[in-house]
Amino acid sequence: MYNLEKHYKPKNFSDRVAFGFTKFLRFLADAFFRKKYGHRAVVLETVAAVPGMVAGMLLHLKSLRKMEDDKGWIKILLDEAANERMHLMTFIEVAKPTFLERLIIMVAQFIFIIMYMIIFIISQRTAHRIVGYFEEEAVISYTEYLKELENGQIKDQPAPEIAINYWNLPLHSTLKDVVKVIRDDEAGHRDVNHSFATILDGRKINKANKNYKTSNQSKKKIINE
Ligand SMILES: [Fe+2]
Ligand SMILES: [Fe+2]
Repeated sequence: MYNLEKHYKPKNFSDRVAFGFTKFLRFLADAFFRKKYGHRAVVLETVAAVPGMVAGMLLHLKSLRKMEDDKGWIKILLDEAANERMHLMTFIEVAKPTFLERLIIMVAQFIFIIMYMIIFIISQRTAHRIVGYFEEEAVISYTEYLKELENGQIKDQPAPEIAINYWNLPLHSTLKDVVKVIRDDEAGHRDVNHSFATILDGRKINKANKNYKTSNQSKKKIINE
């Protein structure tokens, strides 16, 4: 069971950039979709499935270039992308995007792939932190969606067959059950990406400490000589 309330407090500049960027996009999404949760899910899941694939590909290429093991990160990221795509395949059975939304999906994919790739190349830890924050917001949005389904504001409906098969749900499951398992997936991605960012933060600090020690040692050496 995931902690659905978990929030990673920004600790450095990279975290603050990631958090600010996420909140800005959240503001845009809220203004555009309001309470149209089905449509919101379809459009945002087309974006959510991008980072894992881009990051997985870039790490794959890095592993080839540097001839270094990836410590299993590539598979985790590609699995994340595949899982996010299944969220999309599920919600497309629930809500059909409008013409404007289809247009937004195409433009957003073009912009987001390029943007995420550039961010990842400049700062991999910021890129993972951004996804960590995106997923925090996804958990919040799915909790709101679930509330609307539970209080009857949005009519519940039988779970799409694709979701029953993918998550091995009981045959009589409804959309509520699907939203719950999807929210768990999002919480899982949140934790993975925040921990990747934290590991990379640690590596940066270790590297800085090492450089500091080496420069101090060489200074001492010069003084002794
Ligand atoms: Fe998702
Ligand atoms: Fe997600």
